[in-house]
Amino acid sequence: MTSQINSFEEYKTEYARSVADPEGFWAEQAATFQWKKPWKSVLKWNFKEPDIKWFLGGKLNITENVLDRHLAARSKQTAIIWEPNDPNTKPGKITYKQLYQQVCQFANALKAQGVKKGDRVCIYMPMTPELAVAVLACARIGAIHSVVFAGFSANSVADRIKDAGCTVGDYWWHEIIAGKRKSCKAQQMDSEDPLFILYTSGSTGKPKGVVHTHGGYMVYTEYTFRNVFQYQDKEIFWCTADIGWITGHSYIIYGPLLAGATSLIFEGVPTYPDPGRFWDVIKRHKVNIFYTAPTAIRALMAAGDEWVKNRRMPSLRVLGTVGEPINEEAWYWYHEKIGKKRCPIVDTWWQTETGGIMITPIAGITPTKPCFATLPLPGVQPVLVDANGTEIIGNDVEGMLCIKYPWPSIIRTTYGDHERCRQNYFATFKNMYFTGDGVRRDHDGYYRIIGRVDDVINVSGHRIGTAEVEDAINKHEDIVESAVVGFPHDIKGQGIYAYVIVTEQITDHAAFKKQVLDIVAKEIGPIAKPDKIQIVPGLPKTRSGKIMRRIFRKIAEGDTSNLGDISTLLNPEVVEEIKMGAV
Ligand code: PRX
Repeated sequence: MTSQINSFEEYKTEYARSVADPEGFWAEQAATFQWKKPWKSVLKWNFKEPDIKWFLGGKLNITENVLDRHLAARSKQTAIIWEPNDPNTKPGKITYKQLYQQVCQFANALKAQGVKKGDRVCIYMPMTPELAVAVLACARIGAIHSVVFAGFSANSVADRIKDAGCTVGDYWWHEIIAGKRKSCKAQQMDSEDPLFILYTSGSTGKPKGVVHTHGGYMVYTEYTFRNVFQYQDKEIFWCTADIGWITGHSYIIYGPLLAGATSLIFEGVPTYPDPGRFWDVIKRHKVNIFYTAPTAIRALMAAGDEWVKNRRMPSLRVLGTVGEPINEEAWYWYHEKIGKKRCPIVDTWWQTETGGIMITPIAGITPTKPCFATLPLPGVQPVLVDANGTEIIGNDVEGMLCIKYPWPSIIRTTYGDHERCRQNYFATFKNMYFTGDGVRRDHDGYYRIIGRVDDVINVSGHRIGTAEVEDAINKHEDIVESAVVGFPHDIKGQGIYAYVIVTEQITDHAAFKKQVLDIVAKEIGPIAKPDKIQIVPGLPKTRSGKIMRRIFRKIAEGDTSNLGDISTLLNPEVVEEIKMGAV
């Protein structure tokens, strides 16, 4: 087990050590896992290409650390609790021994289908324990899993299957596992062999496949799980994310199971059968650590306090949030109504590309401030830069958030297109990983994430690229061009506002809007449906043909008093009309 920080003083010492001697620090953590062969060197890197390798020459299989090494002490301990959507259906429980057997059985089934080390397997399943089993089974045999969020459309799945060149899909579970053995030797993997691909949206083009590897990802997710939540042996951990997102990969499956915890998988939604569901589940399963998105907190807060009032949750010890900025009102509600002012809140900032939590309080140890992700974890070296790439030093400053040194689970490449990885993350600022987020560092050196500085929208904690939505909308036969921006939304954090130019005079607006929403749902998935659609006579463009999104953002926010300088526009006359027609 990796080391655990016990006090704020110790955090400061560990942090300083991790910066002074990153290799020594991470080697010590990595040494707590089972390796088939030890690594020869800890780290080799440059951010130029980029070429980043951790634990070089080390051989392992992450599932031996998730499963095999726990069997001696935890074979009867519950690894996974499954809470089905229907509260009247009996919850499921899988022990570490059973999980081991199920993973092995499915691994053998995959092998029987001809799946080999290095093959890509696309997994598109609802939130059931079988999803976790399928993920681990791939890792067991060295196949690269690519889980697609079950809320994405068939077209999105098809795009991801094609991009990753996946070969296997759609068999019936019970048929392929029938008669398969319940043990399966773990494939020996190199530290740097890919473990999975996970698609995420960027500012341009189609979603890109972020690649994480066996060695570094393992070390980092376990270390962060254990430290951020201050996990204590035998605790029940519940992360409400979908396994189709990075949060589910790292903190439903890998982090908790590597640490030997009991991880709860919930199939349903926070409001079914009523907005007290989360609190019922916490009570029923005596959840100790609860990790969710600000959107869920806002929605449940809006449903009223009566759903919380009569539900005592004495088991709760730590609360967490992830995926988007939390507003003060929601933070205080979470703190007072759910945590009864006794549970620390960890506001965890990280990304698909970072693999694990990066900037966060350590539960009960770092003094918190509402809405602040506070301080970097050991091994994480954040810097703020201005538009010229100059580092902004000191406190009480704002800038773009970059990281100047690798940590073990940093993105290695974007699948099949390394240049895209370089362009997106390592080319904007020299020798730095660029996060795409704006951040404020206050007088105490605490970090507050402001939000994306690029064309990525964060809807209910889900990353959506404006270009993707525009591409989908443009498939409507009457739409010539569109521009999509985010706007503040009470529950979802950000909503989607679409400006469209149409060929024909639209007479039936309701029908037109429905068609647009249907197309987006079909092309991407329901989460990307615009909240507002405005028909406009033209898009404000610069003389070089670039849409001036700043203007659209202001109008979508309802703030038209100061649109800034529009004199450089090719067509400044459209601005007034767009303002008048805002919805
Ligand atoms: O803008 C930041 C926001 O979510 C983005 C990453 O999205 P994704 O890769 O889907 O991963 C989400 C789950 C880790 C970031 O660039 N974000 C994430 N966590 C926070 C956040 N914004 C504010 N506060 C956070 N705690």
